[in-house]
Amino acid sequence: MDFKAEIASIAAKAALECFPGAAVDEASLSGMLETPPDPAMGDFALPCFKLSKVLRKAPPQISDALAAKISSPLLSKVESVKGYLNFFVSPDMFARTVVEAALSRKDRFGSSDEGAGKTVVIDYSSINIAKRFHIGHLSTTMIGNALYNMYKFLGYHVVGVNHLGDWGTQFGKMIAAYKRWGDEETVRKGGVDEMVKLYVRFNTEAKSNPALEDEGRAWFKKIEDSDGEALKIFNWFKEVTLKDAERVYDMLGVKFDSYAGESFYIDKMQPVLDELKEKGLLVEDQGAQIVKLDEYGMPPAMFLRSDGATLYMTRDLAAVKYRHDTYDFAKCLYVVAYQQDLHFKQLFKVCELLGWDWAKGCEHVNFGMVSYEGQALSTREGHIVYLDELLTQAVEKAAEIIEEKSPSLENKDLVARQIGIGAVVFFTLFNGRIKDIDFSWERALNFDGETGPYVMYTHARLCSVLRKAGECDAQPDYSALSDPEAQAVLRLIESFPQQIALAVSKSEPSVITRFGCELAKAVNKFYYERRILDDDMGARAARLALTKAARQTIATALKLIGIAAPEKM
Ligand code: ARG
Repeated sequence: MDFKAEIASIAAKAALECFPGAAVDEASLSGMLETPPDPAMGDFALPCFKLSKVLRKAPPQISDALAAKISSPLLSKVESVKGYLNFFVSPDMFARTVVEAALSRKDRFGSSDEGAGKTVVIDYSSINIAKRFHIGHLSTTMIGNALYNMYKFLGYHVVGVNHLGDWGTQFGKMIAAYKRWGDEETVRKGGVDEMVKLYVRFNTEAKSNPALEDEGRAWFKKIEDSDGEALKIFNWFKEVTLKDAERVYDMLGVKFDSYAGESFYIDKMQPVLDELKEKGLLVEDQGAQIVKLDEYGMPPAMFLRSDGATLYMTRDLAAVKYRHDTYDFAKCLYVVAYQQDLHFKQLFKVCELLGWDWAKGCEHVNFGMVSYEGQALSTREGHIVYLDELLTQAVEKAAEIIEEKSPSLENKDLVARQIGIGAVVFFTLFNGRIKDIDFSWERALNFDGETGPYVMYTHARLCSVLRKAGECDAQPDYSALSDPEAQAVLRLIESFPQQIALAVSKSEPSVITRFGCELAKAVNKFYYERRILDDDMGARAARLALTKAARQTIATALKLIGIAAPEKM
């Protein structure tokens, strides 16, 4: 259903008839075709001034000649206006083509196999051990998840990686604190919160008792030396954190293929350090080992501290190499906040300097910061919203609304979960990712207007229309879909594959979030203006077919961004 290509071919044929021997062909014309800003000017327009040179004629002369020549069942009208050739696709043909294409592909409509044989690694969520999941983690988790779904939809093999922050001196401190003041029972019950408390206490007491710092260092040394007790406690901390996180991931419907975090690379750093040295990139600077990047307008990237310790950067360099060696990726995306812009610029530059050509496939998918009612998030000052709290509240609110509006709904609990969580996810993915988000309870839990529940509700409503209509075996009369409301819905459905391509190429799930919202609005308008269950069976069949195609497209859009599409609400 490539209308553009069809029209380009029709136009090329006419051009050759009007101007024999002219150097025009379908491909060049297809490149010139535009979509007019106003549908009153047609579905496609050919600006004929672009042909003036090869045809040696004034634009209006060209457009007049072509308009007189062209006739095709695909087009209801061709107009020559001031050197523009405006094409109006026949509304019935358009309706038939779009609806049939969408319905025949079912829930694969919009998918492709462009990614066949290619692998994309997506590093997202990437939480830190012994820290609680808060709203600041929503963007990375949900953007990453949406990109994961979309790449899969386009046929790529996708590897989702949670690059755990599970290495660093703070873990030595935590063990020291645990040995002094903690006990197994409390930490098991209290989970991450208890670990955070221990860590905070350590830092407070270390101010007046500096010897504690030595204790922390000693424990970290033990972790590094694979001491039995140290590793046991450390791994247990990891387990507790992951168990907490797993609950939230379950609620959000997010999964990973790998949890290889920073500690996974401990034994993989030496080879890359050696390679940096061999290639003459590593230089000593006050005892530390760095790669100078001032030529590229960046501060140096440090790979070994003066005490010999490795850094976040060192582990990331080992990680990118490992991912390449293991997955042979076409792309490796890092969904990480823009605070780390410099880090990734440095990392990618170092890869380039190493001559790792494949690293061109690396991309930092950055996003804005989350503040909470105007202030930066801060665990220490209690200025924070934990994710499980937010999700729980959203689900409770959805449950209340269901209780009020449809108390006899089946699976009430499940649907409340889907709506509540859908609201939060939609809120997270609605704006372009680089925009900062100021979180407010009111906005996140708003179910009216351009929100997840609105789109989900529209989907459920279409399901109900289709259920009530039952089967209709009449031959669809697509001329019943020539009204502006139906055409608006059709245009959106037709654009779905391009919207997905755009969302993927810009790593921007908000394209799909907004698309879902636009389609819901258009379909509600159509539903409001037109009788679906028309007495004319041909019209009824066509409107039902459109309803089906719209329902299916909304469901797929929601699914791609990680939101469920319940059939009843
Ligand atoms: N754990 C890191 C943080 O919270 C994010 C890790 C992102 N991934 C990576 N490969 N650096 O800042």
